[in-house]
Amino acid sequence: MLLLTGATGTTGAALLRRLTAAGVPTRVLVRDPKRLGPERVRVQIALGDLADPPSFRNALRGVTTVVHLAAASRDQPQGSIEELGGIATWRMVAAAEKAGVEHFVFFSALSASAHNRTRFLRSKALAEKAVAESGLRHTIFAPSIVYAPGDPALTLIARLALLPVVPMSGRGRALFQPIWADDAADCVMSVLGHRPAGAEIRAAGGDDAEVPRSARYELAGPETLTGRELVDVAVRAAGRPRPILPVPTAITSRVLRAAELLVSHRALATWDEAELLEVSMTSRSGTADAERLGVSPRRMAAVLGAA
Ligand SMILES: NC(=O)c1ccc[n+]([C@@H]2O[C@H](COP(=O)([O-])OP(=O)(O)OC[C@H]3O[C@@H](n4cnc5c(N)ncnc54)[C@H](OP(=O)(O)O)[C@@H]3O)[C@@H](O)[C@H]2O)c1
Repeated sequence: MLLLTGATGTTGAALLRRLTAAGVPTRVLVRDPKRLGPERVRVQIALGDLADPPSFRNALRGVTTVVHLAAASRDQPQGSIEELGGIATWRMVAAAEKAGVEHFVFFSALSASAHNRTRFLRSKALAEKAVAESGLRHTIFAPSIVYAPGDPALTLIARLALLPVVPMSGRGRALFQPIWADDAADCVMSVLGHRPAGAEIRAAGGDDAEVPRSARYELAGPETLTGRELVDVAVRAAGRPRPILPVPTAITSRVLRAAELLVSHRALATWDEAELLEVSMTSRSGTADAERLGVSPRRMAAVLGAA
């Protein structure tokens, strides 16, 4: 049995479709099963929350593989970014060790570090450390920006493109190598032993080339885009080409913090999320790790059909 967290998210939904299509017995840890869509009848459902450790301890019964995708890029009423990303992963790892899990797959992020300016990337560093220092066989993926048509970030940009100009936090000079959620999901399937047809896996470390005890893959798309170029692709994909208006980060942070005070976690965007556009997330090895797993990531404009 495989336990998937974050199955209702951008990457999780793409991965869940592949797991059920491949006939992998899957249990999902979710807060709201309705958000699983049609896949919900093909999986075991464990109701749970990252802020509620007993819920995921129960979900781990009889599980041999965990794919832990659930995380938060904004504070929730149940817990902070640090609690839901860092501490919950540490607890999930401890519970997985107790439950006798054989393989723990975790999504960190490129640029995660203990001293990063963003809370999200600091929490990912803490989480990644917990996974790497565990006694579990583990695979860590560190993606750049992960996107899929209709995901919350692209939907927000499409809505902003209803305005005459599209506001963008900061000058948009940080660099990204966006990877499509379907390509990221194919990489996960590959480490789970379901390689894309015709692909040949190459060793990523460890004694056994097929089943390394620990491995870390950086997931990057085939092109390096500035934040501004990324917003531009999204705006064109929405079919509403518009000029982009850089908004100084000092103003963005004040406006978004005020909005969060007013409407709490229901804000359209938070400063913690917008600040992520200030930090480059690139891999020096580009698409090499994905290709080692038999996956050739596609360009964002091609996936989104941006003119
Ligand atoms: N997207 C990116 O650009 C990016 C970049 C670097 C790293 N990553 C990491 O890659 C992984 C996948 O990213 P993604 O963008 O596909 O994720 P996502 O779309 O943001 O989805 C997050 C998932 O986590 C779940 N979740 C959030 N809070 C939870 C809680 N308190 N209890 C249980 N589940 C909770 C959500 O469930 P609900 O449906 O209930 O909200 C959702 O399924 C994440 O670990 C993310 O941090 C993503």
